[in-house]
Amino acid sequence: MKVAIIGTGHVGLITGVALASLGHDVIGMDANPERVALLREGTPPFEEPRLRELLQEGMQAGRLSFTDSIKEAVGGTEVVMICVGRPPIGLGDRSLVAVESAVRDIARHAPRGVVVVVKSTVPPGTTARIEQVIRLERPDLEFSIVSSPEFLREGHAIEDTLEPDRIVAGSDSVRGIDTIRRLYAPLLDAGRRLIETDPRSAELSKLASNAFLAMKISYANALAQVAEKAGADVTEVTQIMGADARIGSSFLGAGLGYGGYCLPKDIVTLERVAERLGYDFGLLREATKINDEALESVARKVEEAVWNLEGKRVAVFGLAFKAGTDDIRGAPALGLVRRLLQEGAEVVAWDPMAGELAKAEIPELKLADDPMAAASGAHCVVICTEWPEIRGLDLDELRSQMAYPVVVDGRNVLDGGKASAAGITYHSVGRPGAPAAAAP
Ligand code: UDX
Repeated sequence: MKVAIIGTGHVGLITGVALASLGHDVIGMDANPERVALLREGTPPFEEPRLRELLQEGMQAGRLSFTDSIKEAVGGTEVVMICVGRPPIGLGDRSLVAVESAVRDIARHAPRGVVVVVKSTVPPGTTARIEQVIRLERPDLEFSIVSSPEFLREGHAIEDTLEPDRIVAGSDSVRGIDTIRRLYAPLLDAGRRLIETDPRSAELSKLASNAFLAMKISYANALAQVAEKAGADVTEVTQIMGADARIGSSFLGAGLGYGGYCLPKDIVTLERVAERLGYDFGLLREATKINDEALESVARKVEEAVWNLEGKRVAVFGLAFKAGTDDIRGAPALGLVRRLLQEGAEVVAWDPMAGELAKAEIPELKLADDPMAAASGAHCVVICTEWPEIRGLDLDELRSQMAYPVVVDGRNVLDGGKASAAGITYHSVGRPGAPAAAAP
């Protein structure tokens, strides 16, 4: 099938590359000519496993191309996927201006019979609005519209797109649903599940899923507070909880809290959507508050460990909002770094992917090439991202590099017993404190 992807951000580019790998003819459109130039060279604008390989394969096979012209992308296509971003315009609100403007352009140039698929995460009712705009722009145009939200995780985006738990087709049009079925036929033939529903339920399902994941993490972080006071270990508690199939063990990791581009915004968006509809979804507000407190609690542990931050050197391990990505949007680490700097600390960070991007945002941040170099002379190490390299660190060497042997583990990645045995004063989240290290 001929598919035009409007917007080559995380969702758009991954979807385009994945659909080309399934044998479709895909053209990706982006209003940013620099991004288009990069993509035409086969260079992905962000890191994602297998992205470069599939991008180049698709282009070499002649199934994937890029343009900055919406007319070129949309003219003659069978399917148009709206994947444009929604920049923040206030607390929890996201602008739909880019979506509306893309829709007007699509309506102007789309051929008869086109199927419009809405992939951007949008409040319920947006697909109906889009339909209305197309009808107003082109009363003569025959088209179908589908809401098909994406559930891909950064760092696993290709895998999540090609091996999804579910594919959602929300439409009142049989042809719309059939188009999704045809687009993903190889995945459905391999046993992947298609859920057919109405557009509003599809739209709400995306916000509901991300808000629920955020809530689950906040539940673990609230439990961590109780566990610390009760002398229990939250990781033991969540392991026992997770063994219950009704609960499940994923997304119960206590720590610095959730970050990224989706969870923090989607939980607030759902709360706002509910509020506008006349329902006070206080549960979600509380989850956001717990998330802010999780970061605050780790920051306090650093302060308590080193006393005055002024003149102290703090090593930060990990800047990305999670391991496996260079994305620093909404990264808890950056909030912590800003706070440490404000209080007068010298902050030296190590991150295998996100260092330069973080430094562009926070120029006072110093970067180190490896964890030991960051820890050299530090009065405290704070672990902010669960990079696998951290688990394998030689703790004796780490201790010998540091001015004070103090580690605040904001992701509960180290073994507290081993850290203590190496002479490190180890603090984590929701786990019993380790005995203080002997003076160096
Ligand atoms: C999320 C959803 O998982 C995905 O389905 C959706 O399509 C996009 O949003 P992503 O933003 O890539 O994906 O991040 P995710 O893997 O969900 O992690 C979000 C944050 O939660 C990270 O900061 C992570 O460190 C944190 N997290 C995750 C925890 O603090 N504890 C956990 O147990 C799990």
